[in-house]
Amino acid sequence: MKKRLVVFASGNGSNLQALIDACAQQRLHAEVALVITNRRTAYAAERAAQAGIPHRYEPLRPWLQNGKERADYDAYLAEIVAEQQPHAIVLAGWMHVFADLFIERFYGRILNVHPALLPAFPGAHAISDALAYGVKVTGVTVMYIWPGGLLSYDNGPIILQEVVPVYDDDDEDTLAARIHGVEHRLLPEAVRLHIEEKLEVHGRHVRLRP
Ligand code: GAR
Repeated sequence: MKKRLVVFASGNGSNLQALIDACAQQRLHAEVALVITNRRTAYAAERAAQAGIPHRYEPLRPWLQNGKERADYDAYLAEIVAEQQPHAIVLAGWMHVFADLFIERFYGRILNVHPALLPAFPGAHAISDALAYGVKVTGVTVMYIWPGGLLSYDNGPIILQEVVPVYDDDDEDTLAARIHGVEHRLLPEAVRLHIEEKLEVHGRHVRLRP
């Protein structure tokens, strides 16, 4: 039976597309069961529609405007996710930090992709931060999410990492394009290892099962 993925995305959704393509090409024996976006402009929604995948647009703002807390929004999203009984929840450019109540409920099943070699350049501007720092290499990290708030996002056990060179004439666009190319290979591969139960987590360390 195909494994079920729920994908959260806030932007262009090129990583979502990489997952959709990997499923279609059977590199990933899975299906994207649901896509959740939180920004009206997120092209990820269009990608879901084109692939015939159910999509929900669930912005945080109306909750706050109605006097609710961020945690209420996260609890609501957790219910939506739980209904799907997913094997993996993939944060593919998801620009919202879940409360621990969400992360603890799905602990060990939430994967995140980050456009830098963690622990260098955490946060929402990893590519421009790496360029500004003048590093000669940066990269891509795919990791599990740990509870613990903002810091946990870029701090969980690392599944896969790959180095990406930074060239003297790079600008943010050229470096981003090189990083995205690696992400689109690494994220589906990490999801594959996870859903095929090839990974063992020991504290911070993720190892391939023998
Ligand atoms: C990706 O580069 C991803 O690594 C990054 O957002 C981009 C989304 O691109 N995520 C973060 O920076 C998380 N801290 P996409 O919408 O085209 O998949």
